[in-house]
Amino acid sequence: MFSSASFCAIEGANLATPLALNSKSLSSNSKSCSAHFTATINNFARKRTGVLVSASGSASVDTDSGNNLPLSGLVFQPFEEVKNEAFVVPVAPHTSLARQRFQDECESAINEQINVEYNNSYLYHAMFAYFDRDNVALKGLAKFFKDSSEEERTHAEMLMGYQNMRGGRVKLHSILNPPSEFDHAEKGDALYAMELALSLEKLTNEKLLNLHAVADRCNDPQLADFIESNFLEEQVEAIKKISDYVSQLRRVGKGHGVWHFDQALLLEGGAAV
Ligand SMILES: [Fe+2]
Ligand SMILES: [Fe+2]
Repeated sequence: MFSSASFCAIEGANLATPLALNSKSLSSNSKSCSAHFTATINNFARKRTGVLVSASGSASVDTDSGNNLPLSGLVFQPFEEVKNEAFVVPVAPHTSLARQRFQDECESAINEQINVEYNNSYLYHAMFAYFDRDNVALKGLAKFFKDSSEEERTHAEMLMGYQNMRGGRVKLHSILNPPSEFDHAEKGDALYAMELALSLEKLTNEKLLNLHAVADRCNDPQLADFIESNFLEEQVEAIKKISDYVSQLRRVGKGHGVWHFDQALLLEGGAAV
């Protein structure tokens, strides 16, 4: 824990060392800490720019350096610049106050991605219901697809939260009814469903990359960063994970091996992501 005196000493040391203050400005042991700070900053401004900026924000020429150039544009003028039309706060009740540099194309693309995530969630939920049947009874696959369904819904909610944060409007589109049967004469149900999941995750990756391209095209680095940080890495991890499962199911065939795969999945836990 620092006393105010020790904090002042540290602050003075950090600022004074690179600025090579003269002995007069360093003689602040008889002055207050804030006086020392002000002297240090003023010295810094003088040495770096030849301009002194007062506490009120006005600038003057440092006559010592003989520089008489005009100073306009050197000082941030917040109360002038904020009068720009771009910073006027909307008053219409149905208009977002927060929206800034957020284009309609980005807003639409986010709503489309929300729809993709809900469709994924719906299909995985249908798979959960199939594998949970008493005459199928593959509990590991049932749990895997239930967790995956919830994960996709979480993705939709993350995008909804982002849409609202940027001042966009969430619009939910229709979702298609998924199949209820997943059995396949040659592949069996487990492999067929897992291959379907792999195709779906690859398609989702394409959609995410399209969304990222829209963000780039609209010069919206914040949206691009959101997609990169929260979706892109997870998506390629999901594709690898499900690819592994497809390969394992191709090895084990349709019968007894599927039961062992299912038991291993039950122990492993986790979702497709
Ligand atoms: Fe997703
Ligand atoms: Fe996914």
